[in-house]
Amino acid sequence: MSSPTEAELIHMFKGILFTTRSSPELLKSLDNFDAREDDVLLVSYPKSGTHWLAGVISKLYNTQVTLTSPIEFGDISKLEELNKLSSKRIIPTHLDYNLLPQNFKNKKCKMIYICRNPKDTAVSMYHYYRDNPNLPTVDTWPAFFDLFLNGDVVCGSWFDHFLSWEKHENEKNILFLFYEDMKKDLPKTVKKISLFLGLNVNDNDIQDICKKSSFSEMKNDTEKENTDPSHTVCVLTSNRKLIFRKGAVGDWKNHFTPKQNRRFEEVFNEKMKLSKM
Ligand code: A3P
Repeated sequence: MSSPTEAELIHMFKGILFTTRSSPELLKSLDNFDAREDDVLLVSYPKSGTHWLAGVISKLYNTQVTLTSPIEFGDISKLEELNKLSSKRIIPTHLDYNLLPQNFKNKKCKMIYICRNPKDTAVSMYHYYRDNPNLPTVDTWPAFFDLFLNGDVVCGSWFDHFLSWEKHENEKNILFLFYEDMKKDLPKTVKKISLFLGLNVNDNDIQDICKKSSFSEMKNDTEKENTDPSHTVCVLTSNRKLIFRKGAVGDWKNHFTPKQNRRFEEVFNEKMKLSKM
């Protein structure tokens, strides 16, 4: 069987690349989505630690919650499927702030944005692209590096995504987190999340959650599970090894040439001129 063409794998919606797993009909109808006041959104640019954060958050609740697949993945039946859920919903999304269904904003739903050093994000995404038949083929790291810097990858430009959300950083219902902070001091971040979500979690529970959310524990757990990918945080693969790859800070140093690093810094400094980062 021949491999799928690029047009069969990706399409453009409002200037941003999406995989064909996000149907144009669903994307067009997202604005009709009926948010609930107690929905919690877990927002990220791909490869920023979404699964990690999702794992932590699910463990923080001792009531029934449903971690859904990302709101933008699927076809038009997705909205109905989410509507039917009776429990509290934790909804991941990679959407840019401007594409987020208006209802989440009107209802001031809690949103947690996780950000990761874009250099490590680029490297993580490169491996994910390379080993995932549901994404266009990339042959080499230099080729992917250019695509990433130009925003010609799924979910668009890292810079645009981050900036669209950063503008709302001071809104009370939005919490900004950093992957690197989670690596440095996970209990501190877990405490921050629990306060933000209004959950009463004691220090012992926090220690326990951190233990169960370590890279090795999470990797082991998912390798044992036999999950249907259409119901997980990452619907693009059932190969969990692609998600739990290395889990390290600074892997970019093993990939970037000094010239690529200079170019990245130039683009970063230019695009992020008005950012506080
Ligand atoms: P690497 O490819 O650098 O290893 P996402 O969940 O948004 O797709 O992000 C995936 C990245 O988060 C991968 O990065 C993965 O290894 C890392 N990750 C997942 N769980 C983690 C954990 N418990 N601790 C640290 N990193 C984790």
